[in-house]
Amino acid sequence: MDFSIKTLDAKTSVNTAKTGVLVVGVFENRKLTPAAQALDKSGAISDALKSGDITGKPGSTLLLRGLAGVAAERVLLVGLGADEEIIDKNFSAATQGAVRALTTVGAVDALVALPLDKIKGREGRDIAWAIRALVLAARDNNYRSDVLKSKKDPAPTGVKKIAVAVSTAATAAAKTGLAEAVALANGMELSKDLANLPGNVCTPTYLANSAKKLAKEYKLGVEVLDRKQLEALKMGSFLSVTNGSDEPPKFIVLKHLGGKSKDAPIVLVGKGITFDTGGISLKPGAGMDEMKYDMCGAASVLGTFRAIAELQLKLNVIGVIPTCENMPSGRATKPGDIVTSMSGQTIEVLNTDAEGRLILCDALTYVERFKPAAVVDIATLTGACVVALGHHNTGLFTREDDAHDQLANDLLAAGKASGDTAWRMPVQDVYQEQLKSNFADIANIGGQPAGSVTAACFLERFTKKYTWAHLDIAGTAWRGGATKGASGRPVPLLTTFLLNEAKKSQKARA
Ligand code: BES
Ligand code: MN
Ligand code: ZN
Repeated sequence: MDFSIKTLDAKTSVNTAKTGVLVVGVFENRKLTPAAQALDKSGAISDALKSGDITGKPGSTLLLRGLAGVAAERVLLVGLGADEEIIDKNFSAATQGAVRALTTVGAVDALVALPLDKIKGREGRDIAWAIRALVLAARDNNYRSDVLKSKKDPAPTGVKKIAVAVSTAATAAAKTGLAEAVALANGMELSKDLANLPGNVCTPTYLANSAKKLAKEYKLGVEVLDRKQLEALKMGSFLSVTNGSDEPPKFIVLKHLGGKSKDAPIVLVGKGITFDTGGISLKPGAGMDEMKYDMCGAASVLGTFRAIAELQLKLNVIGVIPTCENMPSGRATKPGDIVTSMSGQTIEVLNTDAEGRLILCDALTYVERFKPAAVVDIATLTGACVVALGHHNTGLFTREDDAHDQLANDLLAAGKASGDTAWRMPVQDVYQEQLKSNFADIANIGGQPAGSVTAACFLERFTKKYTWAHLDIAGTAWRGGATKGASGRPVPLLTTFLLNEAKKSQKARA
């Protein structure tokens, strides 16, 4: 899919624009957008609305051919809802309807002439936002995960090139917005591709090789530590999870150093369990295949790096991925075993299925060496988070002080701006009580109540030296059921957050 910006001024009006399909908007009350009005000299568009051929409901579409006085071969009408100040949700629905319709036409190129500057809802629903909605909808509609099918899913047909019509005044903003949208779509695609691969293909070694490939392509720094080096670092907690597995563990460090060398980096830490059986605390069999998605935190870090590298973001960002399998075996860690983390804190492993926190805690200690401006970990950490927030919001956990409130608000804002939302959850000392152990410094589970909070509280004990946030993506990183597949979340949230941070530090310098 190829995207571009086309400036439409007085000289090249929508009527004279040559394209296979011209996409324009209509409303529910039979009103036309300015572009639709310009094309309606023959009255064909008004007639279509009057006759009920198209309702104008968000996402409804109707294809017309050979309109008099229109150079485009076809005109695709798209419903934008009732309001001429278009509600953001309705615009998203319209982009989804439009891109679906564009896959069933005989044309290869389209020109989208929708009122991108008339969208309301939250703050920041500007032209860049509208273009991103369109690009992400088109790329998602065309996404296939069929590398391992001998008979491929039918390739998307129809339009291959989408141009977006904007005014002369809006052209610069639109071009920047388009570049960001395409980079984001590329990052989400990498994240989805990795996450959808099965555990026997996407092993810790595979993830490490993917990181190396990405680093080579974009000239990023990369380092992959193996078991010996992890032993030397005394990562006893991380290594205890990998005991039952025949696949070697890896610890990936990626560096995108686009900022000033003195600037403290933002560190992303992604959980990379390439398959979670639960270990000796074995999970039930039904649906266990979905635990191949237990590396979605890692995939989101790699996807985000792909996006920010493509954009040559002027910010220092370090990505850290502890990755291994969680398997039962004669050598596996047993419930009740006590392990020593890199921080020196001892941990009683009461449940080997609470393994994410065991690999993350050592990674969180490791990243102290970077003297980070902030650390954000991303993990499919708890089923309890799915119970609390369902599949709509990622759980966001931080301590409560000014610095952490600031970080939390920045992440929440990035989620709202990108439609990849998070919801704040508590990290408070009262919950720490639940992690008491009779035999070690801390237990790795806190019982039934507030399971996602006690998991975050466990991590909190390893993050005292910097500003930290934890994203529990157990409910948002993939869809189950008939449309099973990775969502690419939270790459939009993370990428938007980092874009905003880069803008902030640029401003501070100016
Ligand atoms: N990877 C799982 C969390 C998970 C479960 C994500 C289901 C998405 C769907 C994690 O390692 C895990 O097993 N957590 C346990 C923790 C419990 C033993 C305290 C859980 O949520 O059941
Ligand atoms: Mn588990
Ligand atoms: Zn897990």
